[in-house]
Amino acid sequence: MHDFRFKKGKLYCEDVSIEALAEKVGTPLYVYSHNTLRRHFLAYQKAFAKVPHLIAFAMKANANLAVLRLFAKEGGGIDIVSEGELHRALAAGVDPKKMVFAGVGKTRKEMAAALRAGILMFNVESAQELTALDEVAKSLGTKAPVALRVNPDINPKTHPYISTGLKKSKFGIEITRAVEQYQLASRLSNIEVVGIHSHIGSQLTQIKPFVDALKRISKLIEELRGRGMEIKYWDIGGGLGITYDAEKPPSRKSSPRRSFPC
Ligand SMILES: Cc1ncc(COP(=O)(O)O)c(C=O)c1O
Repeated sequence: MHDFRFKKGKLYCEDVSIEALAEKVGTPLYVYSHNTLRRHFLAYQKAFAKVPHLIAFAMKANANLAVLRLFAKEGGGIDIVSEGELHRALAAGVDPKKMVFAGVGKTRKEMAAALRAGILMFNVESAQELTALDEVAKSLGTKAPVALRVNPDINPKTHPYISTGLKKSKFGIEITRAVEQYQLASRLSNIEVVGIHSHIGSQLTQIKPFVDALKRISKLIEELRGRGMEIKYWDIGGGLGITYDAEKPPSRKSSPRRSFPC
């Protein structure tokens, strides 16, 4: 649900006339509804109220500083994928301890910048990235907090181009190789294993793929904990979809109650 509607043939965002805005600032212009963004953010907050959690907005969706500030003000975190995004998040007042650094292409310079800023954790996608991060952390005399991004091999039933958790996709470490990669991470002296991450795709309109992925990951967490690894954080994605056309993404009313072992 959003706050853009026509009143007597004229488009409004909340109570603001888009026509009046266009006259004032010119076109093209982007208009975001504060109410809509805040309401959706609070729906996630409410849904996870029973467990300690952090809702981290993926800045790749929208890097507008006012939008980022809105989420920061509500206590939200940010998912960043570059040093540029790191600086934008800092400029928007996001607490570095609420930032996670995702993405397959982090450079050593970007790793160093995020380590210096003191972010919550790096979502690491490969053994190569793990060893590079270890070296960068060593050169700075620190330890890098890490979650490995594990690919659960689940079809998210969304558009193939935005499916990220299938075995054939480039993202993450194959679930069958996860234990071995966690063991490698534990051996690296400047890496601190703190969590696990999985992201199955964007524009998700069905809950079942999520549940299937979470069941797989939860089994893996049990195994890792059994091997003495501390998994403090479980970072789950992607986000629920929106209605572009005829999609019916799940809402609080339509989704059944489920609980996940953690
Ligand atoms: C690691 C990660 N975080 C966040 C996103 C954005 O996902 P969504 O739009 O579903 O929130 C993606 C998209 O691929 C991603 O790979």
